[in-house]
This record gives sequence, C-alpha cells and structure tokens, in this order.
Amino acid sequence: IPLKKYNTFGISVNAKRFISVDSVYLLQQILKQEKDIFLISGGSNMLLTKDIEKLVVHIDFKGISIDREDENNVYLTVNAGENWHEFVLWTIHNDFGGIENLSLIPGNVGTCPIQNIGAYGVEVKDVITKVEALEIETGKLVSFSNEVCDFGYRNSIFKNEEKGKYIIVAVSFKLTKNKHTLNTSYGAIETELEAKNIVSPSLQDVSNAVIAIRKSKLPDPKEIGNSGSFFKNPVISKDQFLELQKENPNIPNYPVSDTEIKVPAGWLVEQSGFKGKRFGDAGIHEKQALVLVNYGNASGKEIYLLAQKIQEKVFKNFGISLEIEVNVIA
Ligand code: EPU
Repeated sequence: IPLKKYNTFGISVNAKRFISVDSVYLLQQILKQEKDIFLISGGSNMLLTKDIEKLVVHIDFKGISIDREDENNVYLTVNAGENWHEFVLWTIHNDFGGIENLSLIPGNVGTCPIQNIGAYGVEVKDVITKVEALEIETGKLVSFSNEVCDFGYRNSIFKNEEKGKYIIVAVSFKLTKNKHTLNTSYGAIETELEAKNIVSPSLQDVSNAVIAIRKSKLPDPKEIGNSGSFFKNPVISKDQFLELQKENPNIPNYPVSDTEIKVPAGWLVEQSGFKGKRFGDAGIHEKQALVLVNYGNASGKEIYLLAQKIQEKVFKNFGISLEIEVNVIA
C-alpha cells in the first residue's frame, strides 16, 4: 500500500501490510497478535526514508465529548484520530478558548502531546489535563496527568522514557468559556490585528490572524510536501551567544534563563545561504528557512541528506548543532 497520502511530506514509500483502526477495542485485538507495529496518524511530523516492513496501523478514532462544564471552563476529551485544525475550528465555533493560537497546525489530536505542539506564545501543554494511552506490552489503558507528561519545548515523556511504549488514544483539555484570556503579544499577531483595526479581538479574530500569518510563511502540505519546522530552535549559552552577536549584531534571540538564549534556527539556516534553495525535488522553503519541502518526487533520503548538509554548514558557520525535530524513519 502506498503511504504517500498518509504523510504530509508526500514521500512515496510502501507498506507491506496496512490497517486503519477506528476503535480502541480493535487496536487491542491487533496488539494481541502483534506488538512490533508501525503507527501512523496525521503523518505530519515524520520523514519516511524507506518501505515499512512492519504492520502499519493507521490511528483513526474519531469523536469529541464534553465531560463537564463549570462557570468558566469546559472539560473535553477528544479521540486521537481527530484532525487538529478541525478540532480548533470546532472549539472556536463553540466559543471555547485556549487553542486559537494553534490554528492551522497540521496533524491529529493524538500526536499533539508527543512534541507539545506550540506556536505564537501558546503550547498545547497549557490546556492538556490528561492523555490516555494503550500500553503496547499489556494492552491496558493508562492515564497520564499533565504533570506526568513532563512537557517541555517540543518535548514530553512520549519522546523520551516512554518512547515507543504507548499508543495515545485520547487527549483531554480544559478550555475557557464566557471569559477568555487571549494571547496576542506575539508581534506578528499584533501587527495582523492592528492592520484590521481590531481592538478587542474575539477567538475567531485571533484564529484568523494566526491563519493569515501561517499562510504567508508556511507551505500548505496539500500543495508542497513538508513537516513544518524541520529543526528545533537551538538553546545556547549566553557566553556563546555574546560571541556570536559580536560578529552578527542582528541575530534574533529569546532569553530562556539567565544563562541561556534561544536562537531561531530559521535565521541560522537563512544566513548559511539555504533559504529558497532547491536540489532536485528537495528544497528549503522560500519564505521560512526552517521548513524543508518536497516539490513532488523527492525521496526521504534526499530530504535527509539535505538536512545533514544544512546541519554541517550551520555548525561550520556558527558552531551550533541543529537538532532535527521531525521523526526520521531510517
Ligand atoms: N527567521 C529568519 N529566516 C527565516 C525564518 C525565520 O531570519 O527563514 C527569523 C525571523 O525573522 C524571526 C525568527 O527567526 O526573527 C523567528 O521566526 P518565526 O516567528 O517564523 O518562528 P520560528 O522560531 O522560525 C517557531 C516554531 C513554529 C511556530 C513559530 C511561531 C519551532 C521549531 N518552530 O518558528 O512551529 O509556528 O515559531 O510561533 O519552534 C513547527 O513546529 O512545525 C512550527 C511551524
């Protein structure tokens, strides 16, 4: 079975065996037969570099339920196979606040906790109350509270100590109702709202602003294959940063602590001359250098080689090792 339409990079590899599962029960039955499986959900954070020999299990559980409500909050549980952006639009339609800044992020609800998706000053960890997952070894349902998930920047236990041990089946959220706390401090959002003369924005206004910003910078996977940011923004020591700043007075930077500074990888890649470059069908997006793209028929290996070339050049120029954020299946 061709997997091209199951990964947003649009890489053509094949699965020997493939099954789409729409219930936890069916997944439990499969795990009784076979535990060494390959999971695919929204396919928005992976780079496939070869055919998959294992049984490919496509997570397709749907459904949103309201668990309870009080005066100011609503508590929801969403099944893993729901599309993330469609869920965001549903919350805005219902006037539930908290994830409007995370509009238009590709992928499904079940994978949002793994890398703690984030954009424009909001991370999904801010609204997750718990994550429910099947333990592959035992087939048992396990519930992880927010604290236990140990969320960090593009990080959680599901990428670390619990990697490969669980299949997330549902995520629970606490969102606001009636009174929302909007996060519009991110420069681009402010600019977008000002341009429209919006003084007291609604959830919908913030979502629209985010959608406009993302559309202007990030390629639509339906048109050009990609997995969003390919690298993480590196965190370096203040000393190293001050050295770099001497040579590069315009280097953008965000302090993360008294001794550490986060530097945008997109800037490092652009300064290394890669922005908008194309090598066959593999390339670097012309409007955001952090995004690697597949113009049609690039193989996963070609994209990966390009990524390594970028890493080498950035290290040579700045002494910074870029860490790949996307899951490379090699
Ligand atoms: N920059 C450049 N050249 C570029 C791209 C960026 O110089 O080609 C500079 C910009 O001028 C700006 C800074 O880098 O000063 C930051 O750029 P931007 O606001 O576009 O954000 P980012 O740090 O590149 C991160 C996330 C995005 C998220 C945006 C907005 C990571 C790895 N990426 O990108 O997340 O949408 O912030 O919050 O943290 C993703 O993870 O897939 C993703 C798209």
